[in-house]
Amino acid sequence: MAETLRSSAQTMMAAEQIIPPPPAFAAQALLGSHSAFVKRWQDSVENSEAFWAEEAAELLSWEKTWDQLFVDQGECRFHWFSGGMLNASYNCLDRHLTSRAHKTALLWEGEDGSERSFTFRELRDLVAQFAQGLAAKGVKQGDVVTLYMGMVPELTITMLACARLGAAHNVVFAGFSAESLGARIGDANSALLITADVCYRRGKEIPLLAISREALQQCPDVRELIILERAGSPPLPQSSSGEHLLFPPQGGASHFRESSWQETLELAKGQQHPAVAVPSEQPLFMLYTSGSTGKPKGILHSTAGYLLGATLSCRYVFDLNDRDIFWCTADQGWITGHTYGLYGPLSLGASVFMYEGALDFPDWERVWRMITRHRLTIFYTAPTALRAFIKQGPDRPRAHDLSSLRLLGSVGEMINPRVWHWFYHTVGGERCPLVDTWWQTETGAAMVSTIPGAVGSKPGSAGYPLFGIDLQVVDENGSEVARGSQGYLVITRPWPYMMRTIVGDHQRFIDTYWRQLPGCYFTGDFARRDADGYVWILGRCDDVINVSAHRISTMEVESLLVAHPLVAEAAAVGVRDALTGQQLQCFVSLQPRVSADSSTREALIAYIVRSIGSFARPREVVFVESLPKTRSGKIMRRILRDKAEGREASGDLSTLES
Ligand code: PRX
Repeated sequence: MAETLRSSAQTMMAAEQIIPPPPAFAAQALLGSHSAFVKRWQDSVENSEAFWAEEAAELLSWEKTWDQLFVDQGECRFHWFSGGMLNASYNCLDRHLTSRAHKTALLWEGEDGSERSFTFRELRDLVAQFAQGLAAKGVKQGDVVTLYMGMVPELTITMLACARLGAAHNVVFAGFSAESLGARIGDANSALLITADVCYRRGKEIPLLAISREALQQCPDVRELIILERAGSPPLPQSSSGEHLLFPPQGGASHFRESSWQETLELAKGQQHPAVAVPSEQPLFMLYTSGSTGKPKGILHSTAGYLLGATLSCRYVFDLNDRDIFWCTADQGWITGHTYGLYGPLSLGASVFMYEGALDFPDWERVWRMITRHRLTIFYTAPTALRAFIKQGPDRPRAHDLSSLRLLGSVGEMINPRVWHWFYHTVGGERCPLVDTWWQTETGAAMVSTIPGAVGSKPGSAGYPLFGIDLQVVDENGSEVARGSQGYLVITRPWPYMMRTIVGDHQRFIDTYWRQLPGCYFTGDFARRDADGYVWILGRCDDVINVSAHRISTMEVESLLVAHPLVAEAAAVGVRDALTGQQLQCFVSLQPRVSADSSTREALIAYIVRSIGSFARPREVVFVESLPKTRSGKIMRRILRDKAEGREASGDLSTLES
């Protein structure tokens, strides 16, 4: 622990001045001053049941309200809003039709500049119709549907159609390989995969259909692949039975049939599936993320609790109102895209902007042009993107009319004060509050942030715990450390929008999150709290690294490498990188008689990319005779990290193998 904390020391050199909250934000009228916020926060944790009940009743529409707000069933089975019934797609769409039917719900821009937009009524109709099409194919409450579609409006439609039926969606980021996709389909027990023929990135077609077909070779239980056609595919082959067999499987028989997304929709023309009221705890979705062991974890979220967190944080942290157009630059294949690219804003009746493609394509002005053109009001992005913008010429945003922006947000990694100030001054023109938001796939929605209008920001600090969230910074024994000292960040009690379990492995959920320091949710992050109660995140304390705000498990990479026939032993570490935060570096000792040359190196890199996805490409693969180990045989990753970051190997080397 000390070692990681030492390496994070520079991150805390921030001047701890508070940037005062700007006026004219809803929370200001509601909460008033910072001290009024702290008082309300205190009340929200001391009387948390009353707080959650009040917010859930106000922010969500229920078919039936709950009988019991919180039940701890033992073995870390936490139930919220028991007895309540609701539907997430109803909350995001139908309930807005009385006042917002003709308001834009979703505005989309493709990488080629094409645009599509959908009003709340149009989106509701498409979602209800597609839900009917899915129901006709046998999808029902409790099923799991995997989506591998890229960033298209049909992804949003499909996610909400699943929610409408009470089926859980399992969105897989389009950067994942066939192997990773197959593993996620299998682990989630999903019988249906929905994909697109292609998606577009940096002007290139990504062959999602080919990847999906390859993935399904390892998924014998999948019975159908639904394909959204985007690339001007040839006319559909008609089967004699009138079945919609599209793209008949290449190369002979297959265990799954293929059909078209558009036809699934068409078949249900004129029919609308009603929103099925489901119990509060009905799984809304699962999302796979890297853990500190090799196997990715399927993080399962509930309907009511999750939706409450998404909606509540949009209300307080993003101050969303009816005129807002919210752009969360995260891909919908990650939790940030789920919570702030879809559920939170739509639940509050705000418009969302969705962009397919790379932020720097065809040039670095793209982002500023889109903000200007669509008059976007909230811009929520990751520090890795901001660092890249700064590098491309810090004054470029000034050449654009960004006056539509009224709030900025940051997520995914620590935003250092230099980058914070650039974002605040150059993009926000000192007019827009900048909220950092700390949270995780597991937490469902923001947990630490500042509330514009009520709570000022400290550049470099994630902010203050949000309402109803009680956290502590503790030592190895779980005792709270003094203010200003560093330790493990824990959440001291369950909250409604937390994950419910790891798919298929509840014991791992208990062990990973609730047993490390008994009684608390263990975040896996180091942090400190300053005298004002602000939280400063110092990085991960486990084997998860953060590359461009993407989580990668070094253990997953290591277990892949050691399974490769050329490799005898391997270690993977995260090394600091000015642009991406961290990068992956691998140390490999090869099997006898394998030559340590560039073709072996390329083969191993290609293997990692094929096995996980291109975002896991190591910056370097270093060949070594042997790996440094302790006497008990543990690889000493600290020494490898020191070496990778150009430092003298530090610490006690006496246990090193000679
Ligand atoms: O280490 C923290 C870092 O990202 C981890 C969660 O990653 P993921 O589940 O992929 O979710 C990312 C987006 C919610 C955390 O354990 N992290 C996230 N936000 C911040 C952060 N580190 C510092 N500051 C943040 N604002």
